[in-house]
Amino acid sequence: MTAPRKLFVKTYGCQMNVYDSERMAEALGTQGYVTTDRPDEADMILLNTCHIREKAAEKVYSELGRLKPLKAANPDLKIGVAGCVAQAEGAEIMRRQPLVDLVVGPQSYHRLPQMEARLRRGEAALDTEFPAEDKFDHLPARPRPKRGPSAFLTVQEGCDKFCAFCVVPYTRGAEVSRPAARVLDEARALVDRGVAEITLLGQNVNAYHGAGPEGGDWTLARLIGALAEIDGLERIRYTTSHPNDMGDDLIAAHGQCDKLMPYLHLPVQSGSDRILKAMNRKHTAEQYLRLIERLRAARPDLLLSGDFIVGFPGETEADFEATMDLVRAVGYGQAYSFKYSARPGTPAAERAGVPVAEMDDRLQRLQALLLEQQRAIQAAMVGRDVRVLFEKPGRLPGQMVGKSEHLHAVHAEAPEAARGRVLPVRITASAAHSLAGEVRAA
Ligand code: SAH
Ligand code: SF4
Ligand code: F3S
Repeated sequence: MTAPRKLFVKTYGCQMNVYDSERMAEALGTQGYVTTDRPDEADMILLNTCHIREKAAEKVYSELGRLKPLKAANPDLKIGVAGCVAQAEGAEIMRRQPLVDLVVGPQSYHRLPQMEARLRRGEAALDTEFPAEDKFDHLPARPRPKRGPSAFLTVQEGCDKFCAFCVVPYTRGAEVSRPAARVLDEARALVDRGVAEITLLGQNVNAYHGAGPEGGDWTLARLIGALAEIDGLERIRYTTSHPNDMGDDLIAAHGQCDKLMPYLHLPVQSGSDRILKAMNRKHTAEQYLRLIERLRAARPDLLLSGDFIVGFPGETEADFEATMDLVRAVGYGQAYSFKYSARPGTPAAERAGVPVAEMDDRLQRLQALLLEQQRAIQAAMVGRDVRVLFEKPGRLPGQMVGKSEHLHAVHAEAPEAARGRVLPVRITASAAHSLAGEVRAA
């Protein structure tokens, strides 16, 4: 028997790429590859890339540059670029960086085994089509080894929203939902492998409308309801949602489904109606705030997370202040904020930008406010009891770390056997990015 070939995968960008990287490794497993965490011993290196902002996309080229010595030391080493930069730039990547042997877009991962075979014959391989077939139907069934207690599961991919700043509709293609039965099968298989928490993924996950087993489409709420019946699956989350796709049944599910965790990532981008309109978000700040009210009425302890862009073309100081007001009105437990980055091919890229110094200043002010809110919400957890799904050893000996219902990282003294279990924990302290606590008798 020949020794297995080794695959090193580096993942950038969103959770969907994390999920895809796992599935690509499985697809290449059929070609005799096992994964390694050491690029210097790999036979193939795959970069799973992100195109969302200029910085993210440029990172790929600096990483490729760093791989040059490895390729020089091992001429048989194959280097591939997958993900959203692969989709957006295609063959241009090979022109700009000739050491790249393979370019594969996010909808073509099921063709990786054939592409790899081409590489072995000394040919280059490029595939950035949007094939009519569903890549997930062709990927191998997930193999059986035990795995960590928390897993991602992609249920919806692509986006039809075309926000004026965003590349996702171009890199991931049109919105597609996987049939409910396939999602349920994959979820059961994950639970059999030791998974206790599943995060359903989609670029617009709450627009899910997959075919139901008896005909007719299922909403995300219906899918969550069916997942909740799987024994051994203790927690369900979903991300990322668009405010306009928050259906009544999904809002209600937050009040009715115990397994659905009280945390919601609901990006708004801006608090200014003028900017929201220019962004093509198709809702107002007031509509977003109303929606949050309804969600909180259904689930009073719901913790909200959001995404914000500062310095979108045309954003004035008054527009930015409207964003600050919205943040004050909501109170976020967690948030991501970015300076606007003009992306080639998007409508907003044609518009005159806000000066960088202003963007920097606004980002700083927004991040200070968001951090203050995050800290206050964390500090208020001290003295309270939460339930933690323990995932892995913590930094200190004897410690384990896991996530609370509200997705706070929690450290506590616990035996290794706590891994994969949900235990009651009394929070005793709040640090910058995590909480500390003591496991209590169940
Ligand atoms: N589908 C999700 C977001 C996907 S991209 C949604 O609709 O909310 C993740 C985040 O990156 C976005 O929410 C936005 O805040 C940010 N982003 C996207 N394009 C950007 C750009 N051109 N410049 C800066 N930030 C951007
Ligand atoms: Fe991008 Fe908007 Fe689609 Fe989100 S909804 S992926 S921000 S186009
Ligand atoms: Fe990036 Fe593509 Fe995700 S652009 S954020 S990896 S969908």
